[in-house]
Amino acid sequence: MGSGQWIMEKRSSLRNDSFSRDNDNVPETGCLSIIVLGASGDLAKKKTFPALFNLYRQGFLQSNEVHIFGYARTKISDDELRNRIRGYLINDKSAPGQSEQVSEFLQLIKYVSGSYDTEEGFQLLDKEISAHESSKNSLEGSSRRLFYFALPPSVYPSVSRMIKKCCMNRSDLGGWTRIVVEKPFGKDLDSSEKLSAQIGELFEEPQIYRIDHYLGKELVQNLLVLRFANRMFLPLWNRDNIDNVQIVFREDFGTEGRGGYFDEYGIIRDIIQNHLLQVLCLVAMEKPVSLKPEHIRDEKVKVLQSVLPIKDEEVVLGQYDGYRDDPTVPDHSNTPTFATAVLRIHNERWEGVPFILKAGKALNSRKAEIRVQFKDVPGDIFKCKKQGRNEFVIRLQPSEAMYMKLTVKQPGLEMSTAQSELDLSYRQRYQGVTIPEAYERLILDTIRGDQQHFVRRDELKAAWEIFTPLLHRIDDGEMKPLPYKPGSRGPAEADELLSKVGYVQTHGYIWIPPTL
Ligand code: NDP
Ligand code: BG6
Repeated sequence: MGSGQWIMEKRSSLRNDSFSRDNDNVPETGCLSIIVLGASGDLAKKKTFPALFNLYRQGFLQSNEVHIFGYARTKISDDELRNRIRGYLINDKSAPGQSEQVSEFLQLIKYVSGSYDTEEGFQLLDKEISAHESSKNSLEGSSRRLFYFALPPSVYPSVSRMIKKCCMNRSDLGGWTRIVVEKPFGKDLDSSEKLSAQIGELFEEPQIYRIDHYLGKELVQNLLVLRFANRMFLPLWNRDNIDNVQIVFREDFGTEGRGGYFDEYGIIRDIIQNHLLQVLCLVAMEKPVSLKPEHIRDEKVKVLQSVLPIKDEEVVLGQYDGYRDDPTVPDHSNTPTFATAVLRIHNERWEGVPFILKAGKALNSRKAEIRVQFKDVPGDIFKCKKQGRNEFVIRLQPSEAMYMKLTVKQPGLEMSTAQSELDLSYRQRYQGVTIPEAYERLILDTIRGDQQHFVRRDELKAAWEIFTPLLHRIDDGEMKPLPYKPGSRGPAEADELLSKVGYVQTHGYIWIPPTL
């Protein structure tokens, strides 16, 4: 099979398999313009352009219909922008034709320089987009404009106004305009609601894609399938069987180079209020009526609305030694770089089960995982408690895996028990399968008009309602982070809290990821 044919088949099979599409009336053909605002920045070069390149090389963006525009204040030429991003595009030099693909892709990019709050730059941008649309002889329904905000949220309102005013006048062509906005979306409930209202005045909810890249991760996307397509999980997934759930994010490096940004936000706004809370929703929600995006998001909102206020005694904050040495961080910063918080869901399924959300920078390892710990076996004739409880672990990254910790008979003549596991390690089980980057998947969703993996306005509001009181107490200095050593597990008090709320650590057992 020729590579062109393979790509066409792959495109069509991915479209057909996409069980979540809700928007079949949206035009999917014709001229597509992707505009990366903040094109000179870190996110654009590290994530947005590489994701676009990956979509291009797999045939999801066709050079005869797509054009990519970079926009920022920095005065650089098209070639200077191309040279900045070239090194970040995944390019397997050993594969034939790869460097040509990079060059072809870069030729699709044009750079426009302008400010974020005056019409001049956006008028110029509109002129360039329109010229592209005219050159492709766009027919009715074929002006598709996707604006990606790789920008600080402070400029979202003015940029939205400029787009609305200067870049949405081609109603003669029909088609659509969508915006993709990044986190942090606000700093607390009020600021987030204000931002939502400002953007909501200009764009309809189906045009707004609030991206949380954790929703694009392979094993996060697997959660619904796992929970609702497997009979064996249905009767187990509740307070009768599950003792506690941990959702953990650890990084083994500090805020390097992002201290200024980070200090304004802290670990709760950076990771917990969005990434980990989104994962919690998928772990805890009820079965949706269908896989339509609105049905799924309705269930996520219900979980968030059932979360009880967080108690101060169920929070441990930390700040790693040396964090304040960063010249962009104030000497007396109270910003946590580590936090453990226990969330309690007040509903029939989860009453009494602690959901422990934990995230930290500069820790001893880099990983993200969900750890579901089951209750002890009643009437345990084998004294299994000594071996540890059953756990179901979903390793989001690195080395994607799911494994279930079980007690089994130790092989041999003796009747003794040991902890072992049923292991589904992706690298081993799905050899040769490339797992797409989260951003790649989510940008493709925006082009297709699928909002399932994006955060709805009411969902965002409910998420801020949970954390805003705690965040205000930290901002006011009423709660202080405990110091911890870089490269450690974080403050010892966090582990104490974990055992206080019921987590029982299994000793003498380590899961070793398979090496392949
Ligand atoms: P940057 O700080 O690099 O900002 C992006 C661009 O915005 C800059 O190149 C700059 O372009 C412009 N800009 C910067 N500061 C201002 C300002 N005060 N006023 C107006 N324009 C400004 O951000 P990132 O690229 O790191 O991130 C973009 C967004 O994505 C942020 O909201 C961030 O939190 C979020 N994000 C980032 C991730 C990452 O890995 N970096 C991961 C997940 C989310 P110019 O001056 O040329 O106009
Ligand atoms: C971003 C945070 O949203 O997620 C960063 O702002 C963090 O602080 C990053 O490093 C982690 O993403 P990932 O995909 O590497 O887990």
